[in-house]
Amino acid sequence: MLLRRHFLTILALLAVPTRVLSRKGGDGSSSDGDSGSSSGSSGSSDSDDTSSSTPSSGGLNCFDTHRLDFDDLQPSHYDRYNREPRRGHASAYSDWDGVFFKGSASFKYTIQTPPNNLTEGDIVSSSFITCPIGTQSMRMLGAAWVAAKAPTPAGPLNPITLGFKAWKSNVRVSDIDYSYSVCEDLDLMRLTTTVDWYNETSVEKAMDAVALNVTQAADNKNKILFDGVYDLKDWADSERSSMEPARYDNAGLSDQMISLPDSLCSEYSNLGKILIGWPTGTHINGSMTNETLELGFSGSTIAGFSHRYPWPDTDTKVNVTFEFTFAGSYDAANSSQVVLPGASSHNASLITFERATGSATATSLSLYSVLLSLLVSVGVIFV
Ligand SMILES: *[C@@H]1O[C@H](CO)[C@@H](O)[C@H](O)[C@H]1NC(C)=O
Ligand SMILES: *[C@@H]1O[C@H](CO)[C@@H](O)[C@H](O)[C@H]1NC(C)=O
Ligand SMILES: *[C@@H]1O[C@H](CO)[C@@H](O)[C@H](O)[C@H]1NC(C)=O
Ligand SMILES: *[C@@H]1O[C@H](CO)[C@@H](O)[C@H](O)[C@H]1NC(C)=O
Ligand SMILES: *[C@@H]1O[C@H](CO)[C@@H](O)[C@H](O)[C@H]1NC(C)=O
Ligand SMILES: *[C@@H]1O[C@H](CO)[C@@H](O)[C@H](O)[C@H]1NC(C)=O
Ligand SMILES: *[C@@H]1O[C@H](CO)[C@@H](O)[C@H](O)[C@H]1NC(C)=O
Ligand SMILES: *[C@@H]1O[C@H](CO)[C@@H](O)[C@H](O)[C@H]1NC(C)=O
Repeated sequence: MLLRRHFLTILALLAVPTRVLSRKGGDGSSSDGDSGSSSGSSGSSDSDDTSSSTPSSGGLNCFDTHRLDFDDLQPSHYDRYNREPRRGHASAYSDWDGVFFKGSASFKYTIQTPPNNLTEGDIVSSSFITCPIGTQSMRMLGAAWVAAKAPTPAGPLNPITLGFKAWKSNVRVSDIDYSYSVCEDLDLMRLTTTVDWYNETSVEKAMDAVALNVTQAADNKNKILFDGVYDLKDWADSERSSMEPARYDNAGLSDQMISLPDSLCSEYSNLGKILIGWPTGTHINGSMTNETLELGFSGSTIAGFSHRYPWPDTDTKVNVTFEFTFAGSYDAANSSQVVLPGASSHNASLITFERATGSATATSLSLYSVLLSLLVSVGVIFV
């Protein structure tokens, strides 16, 4: 019986590609009438409960292993270097695999609601709106990926690309591998420092959303600092990609945003998530050694609310000021590379990536063979 359950789990794991059933994280139209109960529901630290079925809004049952995945950390133009070749080949290696970091984060934000007859730029606010007053704080878990600049397409200048996501959670960092959900609308924050630009068929160009200034840290020769400002003005002024209509006032991308939980604010009835496209001007900085990654994001924007079926939509907007910090540790189990920053780098850009000599590929290889052999042996039992 035990075997059978494992067999089914493994089958399900193999059969359900991670994000197939999920609604795309952060898509502005996503809060389509899900119960408000998802906010805060990630707080369970019961890491033994590794799978469950959650009814999703489409009426489908969504299969959720609560397993963390890294799929949405990398811009699509990396696919041809480090994702597609790997399908079915856990041992495939590419020079653009990059390194992963996992850790916890703190998100502080302040929501301001001007009076309803005040029109300043595009602030529209109702005097009936109520939001939490003062600085609010939310604990999150996060995962980051950092890799060398991809050889194509031309456009990006940063020596590295950084992808990051964080989701509201009270789970301890040691249980992060089982803290995620593809069924609940957990993806509360996502950012890549280089973004893709699509034409009708494929990634046509890429560009740095944040021009990173990489410098040597004064206090540690093997540490670098990076600093920049999020700025998609060039993108906003150009003809937008067919996949990114000018949907948000402030040029944010629909798959790169911060969303604040449902029902923080109300206006006659509870309002949906506050959707924040990364505003131009957001300050992004951090530091990196071969073992740690620290990140900070801060900015301010005017943001609207996602639609919450069956409640009427609202034009109401609020001013949100935010400050975010993340501290992560190198994820040796999942990284096939190590990063040598600062003095240990052989590169003028202060960052070198090298193939990990230790566990990573071996681990994924052996995990793969374990799965295979389990499948084979259990398959034999059931034949
Ligand atoms: C990280 O590695 C562990 C151990 O090999 C594996 O169980 C887990 O699925 C990997 N995580 C991701 C996000 O790939
Ligand atoms: C807002 O309404 C109040 C009361 O009607 C009025 O005194 C005030 O001048 C108005 N403010 C603006 C900016 O229009
Ligand atoms: C330095 O890093 C850049 C960006 O990753 C890369 O294009 C270049 O080939 C590297 N140079 C050396 C000497 O490793
Ligand atoms: C889209 O971009 C790709 C890559 O540059 C190119 O090969 C393709 O012809 C373009 N398609 C259209 C419809 O412009
Ligand atoms: C990069 O950072 C260094 C150290 O903070 C600073 O002196 C320099 O002016 C910055 N360069 C740019 C282009 O912002
Ligand atoms: C980012 O910049 C802020 C403000 O200058 C500073 O307080 C913080 O320590 C920096 N964070 C990192 C990770 O370097
Ligand atoms: C990081 O660098 C230090 C000193 O160079 C080394 O002892 C340590 O093993 C390295 N860690 C990783 C994960 O490569
Ligand atoms: C939001 O309010 C703060 C404090 O009043 C202000 O400094 C900031 O400029 C406002 N943000 C926007 C985008 O208007």
